[in-house]
Amino acid sequence: MNNKLLVANWKLNPLSQKKAVDLAKKIDFKNVVVAPPFPFIEEVSKVLRNADTGAQDVFWEEKGADTGEVSPAMLKSVGVKYVILGHSERRRILKETDEMINKKVKEAIKAGLKVILCVGEPKRDLKNKIYDLRKAKKYIQNQLESDLKNILNRKSYLSLIVAYEPIWAIGTGCNDAPADAVKIIKFIKEILSSKFHILDSKVLYGGSVNAENIADYMKYKEIYGALVGGASLNATEFKKMIEIVFKA
Ligand code: PGA
Repeated sequence: MNNKLLVANWKLNPLSQKKAVDLAKKIDFKNVVVAPPFPFIEEVSKVLRNADTGAQDVFWEEKGADTGEVSPAMLKSVGVKYVILGHSERRRILKETDEMINKKVKEAIKAGLKVILCVGEPKRDLKNKIYDLRKAKKYIQNQLESDLKNILNRKSYLSLIVAYEPIWAIGTGCNDAPADAVKIIKFIKEILSSKFHILDSKVLYGGSVNAENIADYMKYKEIYGALVGGASLNATEFKKMIEIVFKA
């Protein structure tokens, strides 16, 4: 077994706790993170024997007058180890800014959670690939520099995983070509090393990954694993992906 990581981001699914627990039991394997909606986290965490529990967001305050929010300490108390932050859906729909994400990253790490920070550019013009790759890199560099601002201590970097998720590839069935994704992932690793002194960074790919295409990403040593949305809701397909990634 290699040390790659597969993250199941269930987003706003499934509709009941029973369905969440049933699905979790079927994909309970080592080096898998299961990130259910908040109300199902505790029960899912109780049935996972091998996989780790993740959350899809967290607030930056520990406690107080913040209606509707959930704190890092609360997540930890129900067995959460990982938290996904800065997902493009939250940036777009909930208008989360880099400043907010930066506060969340800091507090989550401080509380002892592992952070999966999502970055990625909004669109690609495939006719002008070189120019576009340059634009995408600039966009992602800005996100990294803002989202990770003033997170200085070396130990905190051990708790950081970055997920490269080109927005145009999320939920569209239009995954990035693995050779292009790895170019951006190498770039992200360079930024993490030159600006943040993280020499051994971990970077996932996310965006329409499924059982058909996952092997094409996992063959690159630079790609630490995958952040999977839609395909993680289908136990048969996700188990197939687990098999492909870890039996390789
Ligand atoms: P997708 O979602 O696999 O459905 O494209 C990935 C994500 O948003 O994390």
